[in-house]
Amino acid sequence: MEVPTKSPRIAWISAPLPEVQADLVVLPWFEGDRVDDMPGLDQATAGEFSRALSTQEFVAKPFDLYVAAVASSGSWRARRIALIGAGARSALTPAVVRRLATAAGLAARQRRASSLAFACPGPPNSAAALIQAAAEGLKLAEFQAATFKTTDLPPTAIPSWMIVVDAPAALIEEAVRRGGIIGESCNRARDLANEPGNVLTPRVFARRLAEVAREGEIDVQILDHPQVEALGMGLLLGVGRGSAEPPCMVVLRYDPPAAAGGPVLGLVGKGITFDTGGISIKPAEGMDRMKDDMAGGAAVAAAMRAIGRLGAPIRVIGVIPIAENMPGGRAFKPGDVLRSAEGKTVEIVNTDAEGRLILGDGLWHARQLGATHLVTIATLTGAVVVALGKSTSGLFGTPDAWVQRVKAAGETAGDALWQLPLVDEYRDQLKSEIADFTNSGGRPAASITAALFLREFAGGLPWAHLDIAGTAWADDARPYLPKGPSGVAVRTLAELAFSARTWT
Ligand code: BES
Ligand code: MN
Ligand code: ZN
Repeated sequence: MEVPTKSPRIAWISAPLPEVQADLVVLPWFEGDRVDDMPGLDQATAGEFSRALSTQEFVAKPFDLYVAAVASSGSWRARRIALIGAGARSALTPAVVRRLATAAGLAARQRRASSLAFACPGPPNSAAALIQAAAEGLKLAEFQAATFKTTDLPPTAIPSWMIVVDAPAALIEEAVRRGGIIGESCNRARDLANEPGNVLTPRVFARRLAEVAREGEIDVQILDHPQVEALGMGLLLGVGRGSAEPPCMVVLRYDPPAAAGGPVLGLVGKGITFDTGGISIKPAEGMDRMKDDMAGGAAVAAAMRAIGRLGAPIRVIGVIPIAENMPGGRAFKPGDVLRSAEGKTVEIVNTDAEGRLILGDGLWHARQLGATHLVTIATLTGAVVVALGKSTSGLFGTPDAWVQRVKAAGETAGDALWQLPLVDEYRDQLKSEIADFTNSGGRPAASITAALFLREFAGGLPWAHLDIAGTAWADDARPYLPKGPSGVAVRTLAELAFSARTWT
């Protein structure tokens, strides 16, 4: 389904707020802020803000918004002004600004504002990161989950965005450009994760990934079913066997000439377009959600779009193995033994542990193509939702220095990551009588044993793994994140590539 994605450029202005002309001006309001500190603010709204604050109608809880119309006697040029709760000023980070901007943008759309001016807060020395975050946040507010409703009102229009900030023009320009591209890239991943499984079949997904990547001038190769067979990718083929829709693999390459000879980042994302569980079928309850089991693969292509557009300093290879996990007369079964492209054999004990299988062949292919540093990203285990909930992704890997790089990228990008241990003893849970190992270690530490499985295919290279099963989809709306696909990890993966100059 195509959404009318009018994607306006974000404007900016360095001017005192009273002079800013907009349908709605949003001003972050920190703990302890006083109306008198902002000249003319109270008069502009005929005392509305000081009244609302003193009666505690507005207590400026984080992301709460209070809107007042500008009185005809006021000196501000905006039509409406809103204060948005921003927490403690000392806790201000790019992540906070990103969320404030998204919340402001979503509120502006809801109020049918034709233009929003967001007053970017923060000390001048961290200006670039904060302005970029504001631009990202506004772009994230453009996301509109496409629907098939035939009776609904058309989606709310996207206001024209403006960031109000005081900094050197060139710095602002660059930060706004970067933030715009990164935010848009997140929305590409969200669009894909939102698509129903009957629409987004493996081959359609592959084409859509190619479109997203080409927006970043990334080189695209789609390995079709016969090519996957020729490469002997028995794990991917095994998972795809139960479906009438053949599996495939998308390979993306970003190859800046200046980066030849340096490290090569290999991003491997899970692309299960729908996960029924296969013969080890899932319960009906909640199975519909499994249409987003390709969110990791979408994140890889979306990140590469940003990497290409913004020009990361290293080579990057994206590999997205794609299949639909279905039961059927030809489906792979518990007890089957599959042979990976690398030659390792796997005894299937649960066909619902399919993500690690396709990622195994994906990791091998990324290594074949010359990756020196690996990251896997996948909606891999329900257990990570139990462990870390819905807003923090699981992080695994080895060696620790590489995992810390990914963690730092996540911090810059505003994706919460929490490292979980690769407990070596638990490798025993994957022991098989008949093959090199099984594909499931059962319930105990299920996220860890899934990661240990992936480690078998990392070839001893630095490898990190993000389990986004809990974070790829928001079940409850938050002021800065509507229900639905979150675009998690797109920014982290892109930031990891941008940060490559600092790798040792
Ligand atoms: N796609 C699921 C994981 C998942 C669960 C994602 C909930 C999002 C929300 C994955 O393929 C899966 O089924 N994992 C199994 C592994 C088990 C069989 C070892 C799981 O977590 O139950
Ligand atoms: Mn599964
Ligand atoms: Zn799955």
